[in-house]
Amino acid sequence: MSVTRTPVTPALAAWMDAIAPIPGPVRRLHEDMAGDEQEHMMTHPDLGALLAVLVRATGGHRVLEIGTFVGTSALWMASSLAPGGHIDCLEADPASADRAAANLRAAGYHDQVTIHVAPALDTLPALAPGYDLAYIDADKTTYPAYLDACARLVRPGGVIVADNVFGAGGDDAQAAVLRGFAERAVAHSGMLTTVLPVGDGITLSIVR
Ligand SMILES: C[S@@+](CC[C@H](N)C(=O)[O-])C[C@H]1O[C@@H](n2cnc3c(N)ncnc32)[C@H](O)[C@@H]1O
Repeated sequence: MSVTRTPVTPALAAWMDAIAPIPGPVRRLHEDMAGDEQEHMMTHPDLGALLAVLVRATGGHRVLEIGTFVGTSALWMASSLAPGGHIDCLEADPASADRAAANLRAAGYHDQVTIHVAPALDTLPALAPGYDLAYIDADKTTYPAYLDACARLVRPGGVIVADNVFGAGGDDAQAAVLRGFAERAVAHSGMLTTVLPVGDGITLSIVR
């Protein structure tokens, strides 16, 4: 079978950027981070916009994020929570957690977000099932364990998104781990998964 994919030309990318509604707090965070050596860690706006839609589509009551950094994706997802909705953010680095907390507070989301400052594998076992959506964006070698944890924590019909499964298109060990993770997600009996070329590639899974 032969399939073609329309390449995102510079002209198409410019058109997408021109029409994309980026929430003010996210736009300001990108401006603040411009030139920072870790700027590349911020969730791509195309994925942030998709996450905002998925949070709304799945009810927007309980959201789990693994890997928060300065709060880019948390800002996107908080923008489409339902009234009373809540995000549990898992972040191992205290300095990043402080920056995320400040950014979320400045955007008015302080009450909707809890940042758990510890390695995610220490926090996950204590969380109660019933999440509408989980977003995996932390240390890449632990993605398989995060997927298993999310399969327990996300309700049937909820979704799991994992970022960077293209491994930036590289052929190094980390890229192999990430593509292996995507293959595992596709084969997982507990979920239906597709791989999408959004940003650096994502898996999008719905829990059976
Ligand atoms: C790619 S960044 C996350 C970007 C974030 N989603 C955003 O949009 O701004 C990955 C984050 O995962 C965190 N991290 C790495 N290992 C972790 C672990 N074991 N548990 C929790 N967080 C971890 C890093 O400190 C880093 O802030």
